[in-house]
Amino acid sequence: MSETAKIELDGKVYEFPVIEGTEKEKAIDISNLRSKTGYITLDTGYKNTGATTSNITFLDGEEGILKYRGYPIEQLAEKATFLEVAYLLIYGDLPTKTQLDNFNRDITNHTLVHEDVKQFFEAYPAKAHPMGVLSSIICSLSTFYPESLDPNRSTEAKNLTILRLMGKVPTLAAWAYKNAMRHPFMYPRNDFDYCKNFLHMMFALPTQDQEIDPVVVDALNKLLILHADHEQNCSTSTVRIVGSSQANLYATIASGIAALWGPLHGGANQAVIEMLEKIHLDGGDVDKWVLKAKDKDDSFRLMGFGHRVYKNFDPRATIIKKACDDVLEKLQINDPLLDIAKKLEKVALEDDYFKSRNLYPNVDFYSGIIYKALGIPTEMFTVMFALGRLPGWIAQWKEMTENNEPIGRPRQIYTGHVLRNYVPIEQR
Ligand code: CMC
Repeated sequence: MSETAKIELDGKVYEFPVIEGTEKEKAIDISNLRSKTGYITLDTGYKNTGATTSNITFLDGEEGILKYRGYPIEQLAEKATFLEVAYLLIYGDLPTKTQLDNFNRDITNHTLVHEDVKQFFEAYPAKAHPMGVLSSIICSLSTFYPESLDPNRSTEAKNLTILRLMGKVPTLAAWAYKNAMRHPFMYPRNDFDYCKNFLHMMFALPTQDQEIDPVVVDALNKLLILHADHEQNCSTSTVRIVGSSQANLYATIASGIAALWGPLHGGANQAVIEMLEKIHLDGGDVDKWVLKAKDKDDSFRLMGFGHRVYKNFDPRATIIKKACDDVLEKLQINDPLLDIAKKLEKVALEDDYFKSRNLYPNVDFYSGIIYKALGIPTEMFTVMFALGRLPGWIAQWKEMTENNEPIGRPRQIYTGHVLRNYVPIEQR
């Protein structure tokens, strides 16, 4: 007989099946807990709750393991292109040469955005944060493609929306930056690969073509791969939950971008650089800021440290740290912020506060530094994360719809007033 878990409530014992994943992770299946017992579970922040079964990404926070569809992140970051990884995540297997060529061709067929979309950009203030612009413009794409409003229309229609998103998001992301600079938009170059085309739209000007350094293209390829998926994190869970209501895919991805924006999630890469700049301007006294981070009466936290799941090391951080050193050396960049970053890293590895709480530098600690070295402006860092995470969100949404998962709708334990009678305003 397969393993079960027993729960005793009000003197009665209930049995629940234990399910085991392919990596031997175990869960108690409580899908019928409430109907059997009348109880629900309470798990604020979903620290112990599996919201789904998934065959996309595996991560083991204790061992520092991350795999996409079974392939270790180290191998993919070293050897693959971002589009190969995107294909792997979305369709389940690494593409053959023909599949990859077709995928690339189909995406490049959709890199242009409707000319009317350009007018939207003009309406935003110059100081608009590009994440706000990106999220709202992606949602607006649904108005240009009304047939996408029904996400279950057909497999072909679903795939067309996926290809449109993969093609247009880099264009929109680069245009959000150009708009903030009040520079003319650069149109996509379909003869360039995905990363090079993005850098072209960001940095070239109509008056001068921009030489794009292959070191920068390689680093961007790696960064996008490292960010491509991370199982049921905050933005991905948002995508799955919004998508579960059968909202269209543009609106669903826009919600993922909104969730990613926060400094505790993808916004941490921007927050890291802002923190390093603050420490630098304050005289560079790292110990003073470490003390602040440890002080429970001070809301300051060391940005780029700690992770909900990784409690040993973040394998993405290990890869990116090396890439960061390579890029800084190849581009011959000497950045005082990097010295502060190195001191902070040393403290975290030695200080009891950080050691006892398993707080290590995470991927965003280094990605901020690397993006800065690549010439990407700070406010664009989280947009870069979104660009990388796009295929992961799409894959998770696709899996959720293909599995016909029910609408996401957690319960709660109500702790408010039981009953109060209405009192007219004059008597309050
Ligand atoms: N600096 C100082 N103390 C910290 C930090 C930090 N960065 N992170 C956690 N702690 C302390 C926290 O105060 C708590 O201490 P105590 O046990 O004494 O109350 C303990 O460590 C556990 O923290 P928690 O907030 O319960 O942990 P969590 O799993 O809920 O939060 C986290 C994880 C990532 C939100 C948090 O570590 C954090 O705020 N880090 C800084 C923001 C950051 O870098 N976010 C990017 C995450 S990686 C990108 C991504 O995948 O989204």
